[in-house]
Amino acid sequence: MEIRKASQEDYTTIFEIANVTWDNAYKSILSEAQLEYMMDMMYSPSAFTEQLNIKGHHFLMASIDGKDLGFASYELNYRYGVTKLHKLYVLPQTQGTGMGHALITAVENAAKANGNETVTLNVNRFNKAIHFYEKNGYANTGAVDVNIGNGYLMEDYVMEKSLSF
Ligand SMILES: CC(C)(COP(=O)(O)OP(=O)(O)OC[C@H]1O[C@@H](n2cnc3c(N)ncnc32)[C@H](O)[C@@H]1OP(=O)(O)O)[C@@H](O)C(=O)NCCC(=O)NCCS
Repeated sequence: MEIRKASQEDYTTIFEIANVTWDNAYKSILSEAQLEYMMDMMYSPSAFTEQLNIKGHHFLMASIDGKDLGFASYELNYRYGVTKLHKLYVLPQTQGTGMGHALITAVENAAKANGNETVTLNVNRFNKAIHFYEKNGYANTGAVDVNIGNGYLMEDYVMEKSLSF
């Protein structure tokens, strides 16, 4: 498995991985209308360009035999000493093979290299990924409802991990 830094040229692949993985992960949790609204908000070409070039999000791509199968994005210094994991998606057929672990470890290593002591993330309260994050050392620090407009809420838990240096 290879993990590399992703760039603007990877937009279409990132969109395709997100599209398939979102549908699979969220169709039993969110309405179709909310799914569409959130995909557009987070993965339209302009949203991606803004994340990459203005918000300073870093994207990592994971591949096997040259085939891109998963990605992560993160923001260093989201708060003082804290890195935020914004996105972590692995295609359904590759889930459970260690790719998610490899990506989150790469994010933690980037955070540490930057002197950040904590990684934080939001996860939907009904998402099976909560178990994955717990296995990777993340603790649930509480529930939060995020108003994302159009009458929609993201009903999340905030999970955090203290990094050991
Ligand atoms: C969550 C996710 C990134 C984990 O990556 P992964 O490559 O599947 O995970 P790994 O193989 O490194 O780790 C295995 C663990 O992940 C979890 N896992 C496996 N498949 C999963 C799935 N479909 N959904 C959620 N968690 C899963 C299990 O807890 C598993 O532990 P177990 O062996 O004790 O059952 C990936 O499953 C995924 O993309 N899920 C759907 C999208 C999503 O929910 N992303 C997170 C948004 S906050």
